[in-house]
Amino acid sequence: MTVTNANDNAGLHSRKDAATPRGVGVMCNFYAERAENAELWDVEGRRFIDFAAGIAVVNTGHRHPKIVAAIREQLDRFTHTAYQIVPYASYVELAEKINRRAPGNFPKKTAFFTTGAEAVENAVKIARAHTGRPGVIAFTGGFHGRTMMGMALTGKVAPYKIGFGPFPGDVFHAPYPNPLHGVSTADALHAIEFLFKADIDPKRVAAIIFEPVQGEGGFYPAPADFVRGLRKICDEHGILLIADEVQTGFARTGKLFAMEHHDVVPDLMTIAKSLGGGMPISGVVGRADVMDAAAPGGLGGTYAGNPLAVAAAHAVLDVIDEERLCDRATALGERLKAKLNALKGEVPQIADVRGPGAMIAVEFCKAGTDQPDVDFTKRVQARALERGLLLLVCGVYSNVIRFLFPLTIQEAVFDEALGILEEVLKESVAVAA
Ligand SMILES: Cc1ncc(COP(=O)(O)O)c(C=O)c1O
Repeated sequence: MTVTNANDNAGLHSRKDAATPRGVGVMCNFYAERAENAELWDVEGRRFIDFAAGIAVVNTGHRHPKIVAAIREQLDRFTHTAYQIVPYASYVELAEKINRRAPGNFPKKTAFFTTGAEAVENAVKIARAHTGRPGVIAFTGGFHGRTMMGMALTGKVAPYKIGFGPFPGDVFHAPYPNPLHGVSTADALHAIEFLFKADIDPKRVAAIIFEPVQGEGGFYPAPADFVRGLRKICDEHGILLIADEVQTGFARTGKLFAMEHHDVVPDLMTIAKSLGGGMPISGVVGRADVMDAAAPGGLGGTYAGNPLAVAAAHAVLDVIDEERLCDRATALGERLKAKLNALKGEVPQIADVRGPGAMIAVEFCKAGTDQPDVDFTKRVQARALERGLLLLVCGVYSNVIRFLFPLTIQEAVFDEALGILEEVLKESVAVAA
């Protein structure tokens, strides 16, 4: 007779299947017990190196002592008043800090929310309120969340949009530039001009929203001339430019915000994920006059800017500065890229290694072709997990592995992870042969 334990990994997995819907898809078959910096342990005591970081949320590592201390300190004072009912100084101070640090030499304001999707929803609301226009242009391969507008803006059907329509109207998609897959900057910008002919009068467009580096879509950085081109189109037609920095923000790309790699400034920016270092908080930051377009009461939410999450966010910004995490992102990213590039000869499936700072991805194609190699990608991910290295897959074709290790990762743990990666890449080639 098999003895089952309801609280081991297998037991929890069958309880999960019975108690929670399959739509909440779960990648791992083990259950977290505790986590520290770049490592986590499951309920059976097995250790993993976490190169997922809660999907780009713990750039400052799991349970950074300063962040834990800041949350504890707030916990002893108050946990919730609803900012819109009884405000608190820490929210205002966090807005002041973000306003100072977000790109753009003009007066800014920030409103806080809870999730990335909520930030996106509110950025669109603000853009519509300011311009009095309905239309929004987004990009193929883009991901903006699982709410109705988030899904409408998202440019990837499976699994995000299947069965959930109809979506809000007046949302249009143009191709995101992707030289590897044959879309140039000129093609992408031309497609927007074509939308103005075929689908919507530019005078009816409130905003263009884009990710400075596409996240779920495959870690494709927006070329500088594309970002400049977007700014130009927006300026010509009175359209607002929204940079969705939910995944790129907070030192991941080697700058506090990915837009700092560009010489143009967005009107609005959405932020979330690593802002809270593991606590749920998001925000919209942008031009003060634009941010003020919504009438009092139009923005907010019961938990928006929760005091514990705000306390964590203050500590996150301090840790990024004190530990020079932007520089560390660049240094670690260079090491990872060098390792992957050096393996190109032995691993012919490596079609591309890319990304700014530590927002690095490796894309796999069938050897000698430009055909996405999904099986190879899955094999690398599965074998790495067997060896205790947690890697995430992304990309419209699911043939990209993205690396999102905490930027605070210890050298020895980083080296160990690179060693595992090298081994599994080589092994996966042997299996493919
Ligand atoms: C660029 C981008 N925007 C929005 C979202 C949605 O954020 P959330 O899952 O917190 O709603 C994500 C999540 O991955 C994202 O990467």
